[in-house]
Amino acid sequence: MRRYSRISGTGSYLPPRLVTNDDLVAQLAEQGIETSDDWIVERTGIRARHFAERDVTASDLALEASRRALEAAGRQAQDIDLIIVATSTPDMVFPSTAAILQHKLGITNGCPVFDVQAVCSGFVYALTVADSMIQSGAAHRVLVVGSEVFSRILDFQDRTTCVLFGDGAGAVVLEASDQPGILASALHADGSHVGILCVPGNVYGGQILGDPLLKMDGQAVFKLAVGVLEKAARATLEKAGLTEGDIDWLIPHQANIRIMQSTARRLKLSMDKVVVTVDQHGNTSAASIPLALDHAVRAGQVRPGQTVMLEGVGGGFTWGAVLLKM
Ligand code: UT7
Repeated sequence: MRRYSRISGTGSYLPPRLVTNDDLVAQLAEQGIETSDDWIVERTGIRARHFAERDVTASDLALEASRRALEAAGRQAQDIDLIIVATSTPDMVFPSTAAILQHKLGITNGCPVFDVQAVCSGFVYALTVADSMIQSGAAHRVLVVGSEVFSRILDFQDRTTCVLFGDGAGAVVLEASDQPGILASALHADGSHVGILCVPGNVYGGQILGDPLLKMDGQAVFKLAVGVLEKAARATLEKAGLTEGDIDWLIPHQANIRIMQSTARRLKLSMDKVVVTVDQHGNTSAASIPLALDHAVRAGQVRPGQTVMLEGVGGGFTWGAVLLKM
């Protein structure tokens, strides 16, 4: 009998501080930077985002999301035998945020832990790795988390990027099952586009070398994103022997409503089948897909037995899709 992996519980967490577009417009105006709620809503669909306090890290957000996912799965933390955290805003240079999360969860069973760094595609990368390890028998019950505190790496002098991102975390428990589960996935990258979305700074001899804040060529990212998202979706459908008509829900990376609309149009899906949280969360990078999934599950939109397409795209350039049955 084939061994599959299946999501048994989802959870998410947003830091309490809600920052509306108007809040941000007022804050930026104090620095002489002009933007508006109209521009942000029209160009991105974003109305609000959450920002973590200064002393709150990715592992803190991951901890709350993980507890909720474990509760939804009916599992104890000690039941987990692998932790993968997708993040581009880790607590430390090392060790991994996954190691810090393991300790915060009180897991003492010695399970392996590691971070995945694929920026906004991080969660689909992490989920695919977890699925492979379950299929191979190397793991049975995996905690897969996307957690980000992008507010720490935003340049609040740059209106073209600082209005786009937010903080948050989402998590799933992925378990071995004789029923599918994850049906197919596709992961890709093209490192020739490193410069279009990056945080170029690094640590050298105790100093920051280069610029440690987020840089993005928005239009270049936009153009690449719409093309690759359609291709990745079609590749996973073909692998699974399904068509667009079999998709109950599309949960794309929540970066920009216009990218989501364009992807839906290319896949001939009505926007009624697309989970949208970008309006309230902004772009939370690796956290955006599990956050949106958990919100849709708890809102009774995504239900057991339904077919869901998850799609990530981001810095690297990286992209990928996971097609699954809930
Ligand atoms: O998470 C990884 C994936 N990331 C993404 O998917 C992001 C992809 N890119 C995008 O979502 C869009 O390209 C943006 C939202 C970043 C920008 O939207 P756009 O429609 O491509 O705008 P633009 O860059 O062409 O800028 C249009 C105008 C410019 O003014 P001029 O040159 O026409 O006078 C900008 O200076 O809008 C101006 N602008 C702003 N105006 C008010 C840029 N940012 C702002 C702002 N407020 N915050």
